[in-house]
Amino acid sequence: MTLPEGMPESNSASTAKPAERVFESVVAEPSPVSPTFDELTRQRTKEIIALYPQARSALLPLLHLVQSVENHVSQDGIRYCAEALDLSLAEVTAVVTFYTMYKRTPCGEHLVSVCTNTLCAALGGDDIYARLQERLGTEGRPLGHEETAGEPGSTGSITLEHAECLAACDLAPVLQVNYEYYDNQSVESATELVEALRRGERPAPTRGAPLTDLRTVELEIAGFVDDADVRVAGPSSAIESVRGAQLAADRGWVAPAMPDEPPAMPALPEKK
Ligand code: FES
Repeated sequence: MTLPEGMPESNSASTAKPAERVFESVVAEPSPVSPTFDELTRQRTKEIIALYPQARSALLPLLHLVQSVENHVSQDGIRYCAEALDLSLAEVTAVVTFYTMYKRTPCGEHLVSVCTNTLCAALGGDDIYARLQERLGTEGRPLGHEETAGEPGSTGSITLEHAECLAACDLAPVLQVNYEYYDNQSVESATELVEALRRGERPAPTRGAPLTDLRTVELEIAGFVDDADVRVAGPSSAIESVRGAQLAADRGWVAPAMPDEPPAMPALPEKK
């Protein structure tokens, strides 16, 4: 593909931004969509698209479906989504590179996400992340963000990432494995958890469904759940999270009834 002089996309790969490089390499290597996307995946693709009035709205779940097949979203995966939804490669690439749940390199059997946002960090999340980096690294080099220990996809392989607030601040510090919660962690408990995963074990999350593997969870996020009863069987809330509601129930406190008429709003100051 020849681009006019001076267009940002005509720059060399060394100066292009990451998203541009992805787009360039997709364009530079036109090829038929990978046979990775078999008949079952194509059928599932149709089912996802049928859920939406406009096909393009199906992009996010479709990317999760692709990730369940490939264990990441490859350039072939981007092409597959673009063709299925009649989007441009640039549009799909922009979405894939914006949302952190879509991974551009093959992941481990498990994705371990350590919250290092303010509250978790202050209560030990930074220390947990540093210890796991060190424990999963090799030859004295700590494992980096979104890097994988072990052969991607093999039993016991782990992709490690630090994450922003995982919406469980009352249980800090927390981490997730394949988006299932492990609450109130310490450096020691997180290390034990990761070592168990490396041995091929699947310790039960603090709440939520039993632990599976990342690809199975990606398929579930895309909307395909094999055993729904099991997948929603675990406790969905923690005692700490419902403590206020429990206290109110014990003491017979109720919220005031909603007024029949909405209260009058104070007048807005005049704009100057
Ligand atoms: S800061 Fe970690 S869950 Fe909110």
